[in-house]
Amino acid sequence: MKRIQYHQYGGPEVLHLEEFEPARPGSGEVLVRVRAAAANPMDWGIRGGAMKMVTGRKFPRGLGYDFAGVVEAVGEGVTRLAVGDEVLGGASIKASGAFAEMVLAAEKGVVKKPAGLSFEEAAALPTVGLTAFQAVLKKGKLRPGQSVFVNGCLGGVGRAGAQIALAHGASVGGSCRDTATQDARDLGLDPIVGFGFDPATLSGRFDLVLDTADTLPADAAKKMLKPGGRIVSIHPTPASIAKSALPGPYNVLITRPVTDDLEEVARAAGRGTLRVPIARTVSLTEAIPALTELERAGTPKGGKLVITP
Ligand SMILES: NC(=O)c1ccc[n+]([C@@H]2O[C@H](COP(=O)([O-])OP(=O)(O)OC[C@H]3O[C@@H](n4cnc5c(N)ncnc54)[C@H](OP(=O)(O)O)[C@@H]3O)[C@@H](O)[C@H]2O)c1
Repeated sequence: MKRIQYHQYGGPEVLHLEEFEPARPGSGEVLVRVRAAAANPMDWGIRGGAMKMVTGRKFPRGLGYDFAGVVEAVGEGVTRLAVGDEVLGGASIKASGAFAEMVLAAEKGVVKKPAGLSFEEAAALPTVGLTAFQAVLKKGKLRPGQSVFVNGCLGGVGRAGAQIALAHGASVGGSCRDTATQDARDLGLDPIVGFGFDPATLSGRFDLVLDTADTLPADAAKKMLKPGGRIVSIHPTPASIAKSALPGPYNVLITRPVTDDLEEVARAAGRGTLRVPIARTVSLTEAIPALTELERAGTPKGGKLVITP
């Protein structure tokens, strides 16, 4: 079997496409034959060693979290999934390894793929869908009729968050690159502002401000809130986690692999109310240059980079 793996933490140069022997699924785990996998910013954070405390020092390590594929084998105690099921999900952060022909994952992080979705569409969903769902509906506690501002509304999480909020009966505005405002308008967003917007011009207008880009200071976001409104950041750092523990509108999300939430995300995508666009699809052999370009230059823009083994 082939997978993209690395033997030490570091930059894109540590990545290699190599042979590996997939482990047999342990208790509560499934082994999945990957049909498509998708890249997320956390993939290069983990490869760079940003989560060493969780990911440890055992090498080689695989890369990639989000995947869709077919269950090849199940471990003891697996009850929801069976060999042959078409699924989507995420590998564990500790093990990673979705950019591969075969990946091991905990059953709780994997759900059945809606029949109407391609493997590529399904692979694009788990991280951005789960994060957006948990940010908007769980931390954000959004209710129908409320108003939301998404900072970075055309990124993976931002676009998913905007769609989840719209489908929940909210009105949604957001910020994006000036050249992409038509795309935000097509999503149904209003108002739409550029990256350099002045928060004072949107004073007191929103029940929820979701900052996906980490460019909106909490004090500025606070001015944009209606009384009782909430701010949700998806950038956990020791400082933001400490701030989130204090009374007040500020919350920080660390996304968790909750099966029910992932099933909701998959159902929304199956219904067509949640679409995560794909900007580029490459084979496993073309993936390392494509991942490097995405990390260094932020391209492709406008959708996910998907890898098909
Ligand atoms: N808390 C968690 O557990 C969790 C989970 C998932 C993701 N994350 C983090 O959340 C972040 C976003 O993830 P993602 O997958 O949505 O990334 P992404 O697809 O790269 O989206 C980032 C978006 O931010 C936009 N942006 C860049 N500069 C901006 C600015 N000055 N003002 C407003 N928007 C700006 C980008 O626009 P352009 O494309 O036009 O440059 C892009 O649309 C990443 O840092 C990721 O690591 C955290």
